[in-house]
Amino acid sequence: MRTQVGIIGSGPAGLLLSQLLHLQGIESVVVERQSREYVLGRIRAGVIEQGAVALLREAQVHERMDREGQIHEGIGIAFGGRRHRIDFRALTGSSVMVYGQTEITRDLFKARDAMGGTIIHDAEDVTLHDVATEAPHLTYRKGDDVHRVDCDFIAGCDGFHGVSRRTIPAHVLRTYEKVYPFGWLGVLSRTPPVSPEVTYNHHERGFALCSMRSESLSRYYVQCSLDDDVGQWPDDRFWDELRRRLPEDAARTLVTGPSIEKSIAPLRSFVAEPMRHGRLFLAGDAAHIVPPTGAKGLNLAASDVYYLSHALVAWYGSGDTKLMDAYSDHCLRRVWKAERFSWWMTTLLHRFPENGPFGERIQLAELDYLVNSKAAMTALAENYTGLPY
Ligand code: APR
Ligand code: PHB
Repeated sequence: MRTQVGIIGSGPAGLLLSQLLHLQGIESVVVERQSREYVLGRIRAGVIEQGAVALLREAQVHERMDREGQIHEGIGIAFGGRRHRIDFRALTGSSVMVYGQTEITRDLFKARDAMGGTIIHDAEDVTLHDVATEAPHLTYRKGDDVHRVDCDFIAGCDGFHGVSRRTIPAHVLRTYEKVYPFGWLGVLSRTPPVSPEVTYNHHERGFALCSMRSESLSRYYVQCSLDDDVGQWPDDRFWDELRRRLPEDAARTLVTGPSIEKSIAPLRSFVAEPMRHGRLFLAGDAAHIVPPTGAKGLNLAASDVYYLSHALVAWYGSGDTKLMDAYSDHCLRRVWKAERFSWWMTTLLHRFPENGPFGERIQLAELDYLVNSKAAMTALAENYTGLPY
């Protein structure tokens, strides 16, 4: 098989790239290790920046998002028993869209299918070849048959555990990593959200997050130990712990119910540089990971895809390599700012036992400063709603 761009991975990064390229007359083949059901079974954050919303519109996958998504003009930050509001609209004139990442992926699959896009699922042993030459190709196995896809370029959109990044020789690749000493235990439940806006809660027992997918679907998280497993957290224990970490009025009005999904995720910051090697371009989680505090994962995947699609369109249009050559630098400038913001929010809001009482006082002083300083709130609002592309 031959195509213009071989895309590895059918997460939001791979599908969005494929869709944007198609609309510009550039053909691609998406090769995915998992089944579609598996890909659509993953639950991830659901806060979309303005820039990513605009890109989804450009990709013509905005119809259901505009209908079912919620526009949020602020978030809550709670500590010391009180909730404070950061007013995005007043501080920056901006807002975010609350719409599940799983739904975005579903909308993208639907659009690719409707436009005749090729997505190969259940592809085993995906391997990249000759990426440093002008004739890269990839191979994959289905049952006993090995297939080959020849292409002009390869986009590695295969997430943190994918093969693409590992194809870049060790002497070229630099990685930066921070692993946090705790995880997030998340629960999805068919209950009305405790607050109409996403609320980040600092508490001496540990961080808690109140989020939502719709008016009747809630998403909650509590900071947990890395040694915990889901079996140790029956629903009752989860709701009790969440309630204890919320301000009193929220704890009183919290509606609980059976969990529909429950999982534990570790928190990690990670960046790989450069994001390009020859004709291989990394995008999304394949190149960088952020802790979920601040919900930047999908938004960074979207900005990478923005830069990559523009670079490919310029190359196919006029042979211009300027944007392609600048791809890694363009992405990384934005990536590192989102890394900083996610690290900062994580550090500000979680319990770090090793920092002791001094560390906790410093956190409380910073929180107090944050919610009383227009400058500090504006900085948060600017980063949360998304820095420019
Ligand atoms: N071969 C083919 N496909 C692979 C391989 C492989 N060896 N390894 C992984 N994949 C697939 C995964 O099954 C997954 O469907 O690549 C896809 C990567 O998708 P995501 O992990 O969703 O990553 P990305 O598209 O970069 O999306 C970034 O989504 O994952 C969240 O938190 C993340 O918010 C971030 C955003
Ligand atoms: C979510 O809704 O799952 C969510 C929201 C905000 C975050 C992280 C996750 O910072």
